[in-house]
Amino acid sequence: MESRVLIDEAAIARRVAELAKEIAGDLPDQSPMVVGLLTGSFVFMADLVRAASRLGIQPEVDFMAVSHYGATMEASGIVEVHKQTSLDVRGHAVLLVDDILDTGRTLSLVRDRMVEREPAWIRTCVFLDKPSRREVDVTADYVGFEVPDVWVVGYGLDAAGAGRELPYIMAVEPDEDRADETDEQ
Ligand code: XMP
Repeated sequence: MESRVLIDEAAIARRVAELAKEIAGDLPDQSPMVVGLLTGSFVFMADLVRAASRLGIQPEVDFMAVSHYGATMEASGIVEVHKQTSLDVRGHAVLLVDDILDTGRTLSLVRDRMVEREPAWIRTCVFLDKPSRREVDVTADYVGFEVPDVWVVGYGLDAAGAGRELPYIMAVEPDEDRADETDEQ
């Protein structure tokens, strides 16, 4: 698998600090509910809440799980929430966090489901955005970096389960033998 570093650690650290500042400035209160989508957002979430903590933000943190049906490196278009947050978000400020905005199906569905639970304020934050791949009309309120249409790995994102631990973002060439499967992102 051919790969190259697309976003290095220093650039990530700078951008996460900027995002935290931007978000902290917009929040209606100091105690938002920050809800990440498993599994890809776990590294970004950890850095983001710690950067926000340095600015006095004291969030409650939880995760949701979403299933994508189809080949792992190609979105099939079928997305299902299979673990909702156990936080009672009604009347609270909610920040939804995902690793990457690709076709837009995941964020669109998850945001709609969250809105039904009547938070007082809701914003979305993605570490990466691939606008060229968008199929659903959705934008994130906060975006770390825009990336081209390449498969990206690292900083929580994976290729067939590998690479999530990398502290930087790499662009990789996809394997050709990816069979259809259900994948928890
Ligand atoms: P959609 O298409 O619903 O997809 O916006 C969002 C989810 O698809 C996964 N995804 C990726 N994961 N490298 C990854 O490791 C990528 O380049 C990539 N593109 C999409 C991701 O889980 C995201 O939540």
